Amino acid sequence: MTKILALTGAGISAESGIRTFRDSNGLWEDHRVEDVASPEGFRKDPSTVWEFYKQRYAQSLGVDPNSAHLALVKLEEHFGDSFHLITQNVDGLHFRAGSQRVYEMHGRLQSCFCISCRTHYKVQDIIMESEVPRCKKCGDILRPDIVWFGEIPYYLYEIEDLLKNTDIFLIVGTSGVVYPAAGFVMTAKLFGAYTIGVNLEKPDNLGFFDEFHQGKCGDILPKVVGKLIDTYEH
Ligand code: OAD
Ligand code: ZN
Repeated sequence: MTKILALTGAGISAESGIRTFRDSNGLWEDHRVEDVASPEGFRKDPSTVWEFYKQRYAQSLGVDPNSAHLALVKLEEHFGDSFHLITQNVDGLHFRAGSQRVYEMHGRLQSCFCISCRTHYKVQDIIMESEVPRCKKCGDILRPDIVWFGEIPYYLYEIEDLLKNTDIFLIVGTSGVVYPAAGFVMTAKLFGAYTIGVNLEKPDNLGFFDEFHQGKCGDILPKVVGKLIDTYEH
């Protein structure tokens, strides 16, 4: 049974209308990344950070998954339990498209948690509350469920296991500059995977790809997926 693992980044949501990080010249929707995506930024000004993530959440609800997200759903339908998807995106579009075996390694816009007791809440339930929402159990402040710079991504043990055991590693829409995700292709390749990349620009880690398709993933990924489905039985 062929095992297949996919990794996606901001590029897969670009054609849905969500701007990528690198396209905004170090700014994230006109904010300095360190102000809105670091624990220090949150400590300094939690209300600006909350306003920012409430906007990102609202934006994510206003867009739809595109043909690249849907291609990965098809891949999962074909490979079933042998398929897994790691995403650096926090927009929830993979789940909305219908993907199930998804690891959101940088967190999710739909969720937040208490900085003291770690109780999780849905953003949809607190979005109308004051600028900085508070925990109903202990009263401390809530923070977005996003992995910020300087924090450890989620699911790293599971991901390492998947990288070491996959036959095919498909990487879509990521610039290959933010670690640890940028190093995943190297790990998978060292452990014997066949590596395929789809990206608008050549990624920084191009040397580790066996096959690279340059262009928009909305056009290219459905073709790449069709070929994988035709070539490999699940
Ligand atoms: P980037 O913004 O760094 O890279 C997006 C990549 O997608 C670029 O290389 C683009 O060329 C490519 N791209 C753009 N449009 C595309 C399209 N239509 N089809 C295919 N490729 C396209 O985004 P990430 O690599 O995801 O971290 O960034 C990694 C992490 O850096 C993010 O998860 C985020 C950020 O800081 C956190 O929030 C923790
Ligand atoms: Zn609490």
